[in-house]
Amino acid sequence: MFIKEQQLIETKIKDFCAANDIALAELKWQPIPFSGEWGFATSFFQTAANEARAGKGTGKPVPQRAQEMSEQVKAQIGSVEGISHVEAVKGYLNVYFKTSDYASRVVDEVLSRGVEFGRGGAKSETVMVEYAQPNTHHSFHIGHARNTILGEVLARLVEFAGYKTIRASYPGDLGLGVITVMWIYDKLYKGQEPAGVHERGQWLLKLYVEATNLLEKKENETPEQTAQREAYDAERREMYRKWDAGDPYVRELWRETREWSLEELREVLHMLDVKMDVWFYESDVDEPSKAIVDELIAKNIADDERPQGGAVIVKIDEKLGLTKEKYRTNIILRNDGTTLYLTKDLALAKVKFEQYHVDRSIYVVDSRQSLHLQQAFAILKLWGFPQSEKCYHLGYGFVSLPEGAMSARRGRVVLFKDVADEAVKRVLAFESEKSGDVSESEREKVAYQIGMGALIYSMLSVDNNKDIVFDINEALSFDGRTGPYIQNAFVRANSILKKVKAGSEASFDYELTKHETELVELISRFPQAVQQAADEYRPLVMAAYAYDLANTFHSFYHAVNVQQTENEKTRNARLRLVIAAKQTIQNALKLLSIQTPEVM
Ligand code: ARG
Repeated sequence: MFIKEQQLIETKIKDFCAANDIALAELKWQPIPFSGEWGFATSFFQTAANEARAGKGTGKPVPQRAQEMSEQVKAQIGSVEGISHVEAVKGYLNVYFKTSDYASRVVDEVLSRGVEFGRGGAKSETVMVEYAQPNTHHSFHIGHARNTILGEVLARLVEFAGYKTIRASYPGDLGLGVITVMWIYDKLYKGQEPAGVHERGQWLLKLYVEATNLLEKKENETPEQTAQREAYDAERREMYRKWDAGDPYVRELWRETREWSLEELREVLHMLDVKMDVWFYESDVDEPSKAIVDELIAKNIADDERPQGGAVIVKIDEKLGLTKEKYRTNIILRNDGTTLYLTKDLALAKVKFEQYHVDRSIYVVDSRQSLHLQQAFAILKLWGFPQSEKCYHLGYGFVSLPEGAMSARRGRVVLFKDVADEAVKRVLAFESEKSGDVSESEREKVAYQIGMGALIYSMLSVDNNKDIVFDINEALSFDGRTGPYIQNAFVRANSILKKVKAGSEASFDYELTKHETELVELISRFPQAVQQAADEYRPLVMAAYAYDLANTFHSFYHAVNVQQTENEKTRNARLRLVIAAKQTIQNALKLLSIQTPEVM
């Protein structure tokens, strides 16, 4: 923001060095940590050290000589437009901006860029983020919501930081769990499915629980019960076999029931404002992954032990030349020729890189699958995939309930849709106590925005590596470090701007209060927060930033009375600061996938 001033000072430093026959080391600038004033600094240590090494110096110790240089440079600089003062301290040259200039430049930048404020320059790399990939024939629960929210926010961050971004889903649509649901549906419930999209998705989960119960070995079974259970299991196995063989009836049953899950998933993604670019399915990569197994055998990476009654395996550690156990030995094809989850991940990675030309591939997947993904990446490396280094697993902790782990088999899960409905209900109950002049539909829309804001922020404000014990009261709390607290800062800024209009003449040429300088400081940090969060794959960085910004705005709101500011130019400057704050809160919330209600 102060490029012109910085260059001017650089020129003065270079002139000084040339005139005094000093070989100037590369000039490096860094911002001075904010303490009520803004500035940047450089040091002369390297230059002094080079001089001493060349035997040209004055014979003084390096620190002393560096300080001498910075003092001389300071004297040379004199006064520069926009710079309030210059200091020579311990070999450093500290250059401070005029607070009024800095404040108005920050505010001008935000106002001129608007929704684009904070967006990083376009980068050449393409990044794929894979998330929202639950298994079908189950229902979308709160653990899936954590995954989806983290993935979506990461995608928004990476995109806003300047990367081409592809959002991908990868639902697991095969395996024994899927067949189990199909079996009981076909046997007992064909044609009885409920009509609503969510109801039908949730119903599949009920079928799964019931089927699991029928197929599970009980204590003290009578011989009849045992026979019954075994007969059921034989039916299920037969259905699996038919699925594998491509039996038309079973395949159609599969497509139909799978679609119910996918419909529900699309609906949930719509609720969460997620727009997927690419849908991969496990079933799509099943066949291609078999070809990869052949290739790995031919390249001597995999060992084919099928002739001896075994499977196709990869001794990853041995092939990588590792002496300690790290990735272990893995099966990639069973003796009966069926593939595994791992095998399919090899094919998936290939498609991602070759068909979508991604430079980096991020997998947002539960931390418990960490070893699995590391194994897949290691096999890709053995296979000769240079991009295997560019695969990154963004793991996240488990979401459990106060009463213990969620269990789909037992039907002990908290469904996302139920929590979302409850969130809206609670906000509505709270809202109707307050205002009367807002229309019903407007109130519902705002309730949805606030309820979801609370839920989403509760998933983002915890480090992704930490487990979450999901407590609905905590997740839907509106006080303290929450989504609604941040949304409320936006609403307050909005309400000031509705009451007073900013005129054209504004000036920050007055004694800014600490609340104002802090707000300017927070706003100015937004672009770096975007880059940092994107580069470190850490949505938490943005979540924390948004809270700090809101908090600073709330303090400003309480301390500074914008409407009643006497001086018109000052009032206008403050109004412009409020617009800038509102814009920055909006941009930050957008990255967090949280909406900005007009009223609260
Ligand atoms: N469907 C899997 C599950 O629900 C997650 C898929 C993760 N992605 C991957 N490429 N393996 O556990």
